[in-house]
Amino acid sequence: MLANKKIAVLMGGPGSERQVSLASGNAVLKALSGLGLDVVGVDVTSTTIDLPPGTDLAFNVIHGTFGEDGQLQAALEKLGVPYTGAGVKSSRIAFDKNLAKAAFIAAGVPTPRAEIIDVSDGPRLPSFQAPFVVKPPREGSSVGVHIVRNQSDATAAMADAAKFGNDILVEEFIEGVELTVGILNDQALPIVHIIPPEGVYDMASKYPWLSGAKGSQYICPADLDEETTRVVQHAALAAHRSLGVEIYSRVDVLLDARNRPFVLEANTIPGMTETSLLPKAAVAKGISFPDLCGIIAELSLSLRPGTPG
Ligand SMILES: Nc1ncnc2c1ncn2[C@@H]1O[C@H](COP(=O)(O)OP(=O)(O)O)[C@@H](O)[C@H]1O
Ligand SMILES: [Mg+2]
Repeated sequence: MLANKKIAVLMGGPGSERQVSLASGNAVLKALSGLGLDVVGVDVTSTTIDLPPGTDLAFNVIHGTFGEDGQLQAALEKLGVPYTGAGVKSSRIAFDKNLAKAAFIAAGVPTPRAEIIDVSDGPRLPSFQAPFVVKPPREGSSVGVHIVRNQSDATAAMADAAKFGNDILVEEFIEGVELTVGILNDQALPIVHIIPPEGVYDMASKYPWLSGAKGSQYICPADLDEETTRVVQHAALAAHRSLGVEIYSRVDVLLDARNRPFVLEANTIPGMTETSLLPKAAVAKGISFPDLCGIIAELSLSLRPGTPG
């Protein structure tokens, strides 16, 4: 199905996750060309996209603002070029943690209790007590995320999150282990257990190669009993579906001491280097990295065939 198709891998992007995206893009480029496909890399540096003439499919690996929030998807639809992954609406909802929270609650997906606090008139405390987590709703890579352990630290955390916008998400803090679940073609992949070096999964422990910091450890499949595995995968798939996400995503989940899952978010443009988490999960299911890239491209092209001719 991909033979004779011209694929452009869109990478980089104008946002703060540019370096991570370039790594993903180069890995996907190499994988697809290894499959013998006609593929070129396109480094996107602004919000105007210049595609090579005759592009049949845009393989999008631009993380974060512009690439993951529906803007790029809308631009590609305007150009009439089929693209990989989530569409305009599902991208927008998944990227906004406030909108996603509402969708999770409506669908009965287990997720930490939360309040959206409007700080346009200055910081205000949530109705529940610390510990809680303060998040700007439309950032990624833990940017602006603050874990408030003492009520007295709340105002400073809220003020920092407010730098990104006035509608701040405040979530109950869940003490538990960090899991992530890849979803491919409406199926949950084996669970990845993330063990950060100092207990906090932040920018440095996610991308140690950016800063030289100590990296996280990853265990896949996670060492969980059958019942817990099933419950976590079920919650992740329900989260993916509740947002209407197409083709694939990677859902972040916390598992508390009583083995209850709490969905944090669905990432619609997850990392796509060979050592990224979704690719690790695919390998645990017998799907190699090049095959994963090929499957995403094929599924996307059958969902969005584009204009014939
Ligand atoms: N409610 C919560 N309880 C405990 N830890 C949390 C909570 N929300 C987020 N975290 C921590 O912060 C990290 C980033 O949060 P997340 O919601 O996944 O945002 P993003 O990855 O987009 O920055 C999580 O991986 C987790 O380690
Ligand atoms: Mg996350």
